[in-house]
Amino acid sequence: VLVAPGPEQAAERAAAAVLDGLARAAGPAPVLGLATGSSPLGLYRALGRAVAQGRADFADTHGVALDEYVGLPPGHPEGYRQVLLREVCSVVGLAPERLAVPDGSVADLDALERAAADYEARIAALGGVDVQILGIGANGHLGFNEPGSALASRTRVKRLSARTRRDNARFFPGADDVPTHCLTQGLGTILDARRLVLVATGDGKADAVAAALEGPLTASVPASVLQWHPDTVVCLDEDAAAGLR
Ligand code: F6R
Repeated sequence: VLVAPGPEQAAERAAAAVLDGLARAAGPAPVLGLATGSSPLGLYRALGRAVAQGRADFADTHGVALDEYVGLPPGHPEGYRQVLLREVCSVVGLAPERLAVPDGSVADLDALERAAADYEARIAALGGVDVQILGIGANGHLGFNEPGSALASRTRVKRLSARTRRDNARFFPGADDVPTHCLTQGLGTILDARRLVLVATGDGKADAVAAALEGPLTASVPASVLQWHPDTVVCLDEDAAAGLR
């Protein structure tokens, strides 16, 4: 657990942890797991600076999204494929054709279950995730694994909690426009990544961070599974670390 004075320094430390993890990737092309949301934006910008300075190169890297909304049409600006194209691919130079995102645009439950299984197969075919970037929800969610998610869960359809829909309403015209469901990597899928790098900043995350890192391992706090992973780097600013003992 690394506590930095502010969000920019936390992002720099997270970027160093990501590059270090990718440098140890064994396969022919490294695989980087990508979170959306506000938390990793500084980290993506720091990776972009590393590329500009010749310290990193993502041309061969595969990107694997953590999750996607269900029911947004392909190309929707708030769909996570578009978000990751804007906030990651164009910032660090990751090729759009090397970006994998679960297909949440399919219409019925059977098709969504197939999309979830296809996504697991795609990750396996890439050789697994070398470094998974994560944020944490104010309710302790990881990916869109809301409280109550099974600790061994795999990629599947989940209902978004009222809290998460409220938190994400800022990206949509109104609260009712936030999708009700998502496809998300499961907690078991996330734990399969060889390194986890979580970024959390701001006092709104302090309770969730404390519960995840110092509370019991429990499905009620999905991010508590981080305690179980042998190579987890948690990068916090002082506000997000305020609840730690
Ligand atoms: C994003 C994701 C979520 C976010 C979390 C924090 O792909 O899966 O778990 O990481 O909701 O969101 P922010 O960073 O916007 O506070």
